[in-house]
Amino acid sequence: MRKLTGLKVPGALLATLLATSAVMADPVDDTLTINGETEIVVRTAAPEHLSGAMSEIMSGWLFREDDTRIMQADDFDNPGMIFVELAEDSWNMAEGSNGKSCADCHGASADMSEVRPTYPKWNETAGEVRTLEMQINDCRTNQMGAEEWKYTGNDMVNMTALLASVSRGNVVNVAIDGPAQSTWEQGKEIYYTRYGQLNLSCSNCHEDNYGNMIRADHLSQGQINGFPVYRLKNTKLNSAHDRFKGCIRDTRAETFSPGSPEFVALELYVASRGNGLGVEGPAIRN
Ligand code: HEC
Ligand code: HEC
Repeated sequence: MRKLTGLKVPGALLATLLATSAVMADPVDDTLTINGETEIVVRTAAPEHLSGAMSEIMSGWLFREDDTRIMQADDFDNPGMIFVELAEDSWNMAEGSNGKSCADCHGASADMSEVRPTYPKWNETAGEVRTLEMQINDCRTNQMGAEEWKYTGNDMVNMTALLASVSRGNVVNVAIDGPAQSTWEQGKEIYYTRYGQLNLSCSNCHEDNYGNMIRADHLSQGQINGFPVYRLKNTKLNSAHDRFKGCIRDTRAETFSPGSPEFVALELYVASRGNGLGVEGPAIRN
């Protein structure tokens, strides 16, 4: 386990944000098996590109309280699964001028279990890195003749929850080389850039200080293997881009928008920091 040797504080402002008593709470030593059958990798060796920065990667699940963790271990108790069911109806429903449903082309949603772990992913035809949301909207407009869904709207976030849920048991494995590399580099740069009046980067909190308390929150590594997450705070599913937006806003900075090229790049980079962790969505968080 990582030794928490003390605070690495980039500035006075973060020092005041971090609990003054310098309370450190190790992530729990626990394993996650969903419905008593699907084992989720919540802790593993860091991918090679993080060498020097971190040796172990951990799911945000390990940083939550007992009751939150237990709730996620059973689909009957997981409020996020209600939205997965809604998306299952939508998966099977024909829509748009071509009269097709997702299922007409893709078969059962369960057949998509290899998809979530590899996104964001380079699309050769389009010549761009696509998030799952971008791909879904591409199918809606170009394959179905239906309207786009709002990037972080309910229909979209529900569908990404369905595609995550069928991938549980598989591990995140996004490609960062080849044609995706320049987007990945852009995301990495954003991750290490300090934003806002607080002058903080993602890494200042999620790499240098995970395990520490910040206000009442136990800081995790800011992984996205659990997204979309059902937050007890707002009692709905939240997409990764909404979370990025919230974290940047907390540094009192202007933020990029969900679906923007900057957030697509950041998502690829953050996903790659979790290469090897189990897909958990829809996870439950504070
Ligand atoms: C008329 C057929 C058709 C329909 C209907 C359709 N898709 Fe697709 N879908 C495709 C094709 C073809 C691809 C591959 C596109 C590419 O690689 O550029 C694809 C790719 C995808 C992928 C990426 C798969 C991968 O392995 O990378 C996802 C996710 C997806 N579709 C989701 C959906 C969802 C959700 C719906 C319903 C809202 C939907 N699709 C409706 C034809 C369809
Ligand atoms: C001031 C500190 C701070 C900064 C800077 C910050 N975050 Fe966070 N972030 C938090 C806190 C607090 C939470 C909630 C507790 C937790 O899960 O770490 C959180 C949660 C998250 C989560 C949810 C993790 C999960 O498992 O549900 C993600 C993802 C995330 N942050 C990504 C980012 C990214 C990307 C950046 C940079 C754009 C960033 N954060 C910047 C404090 C910060």
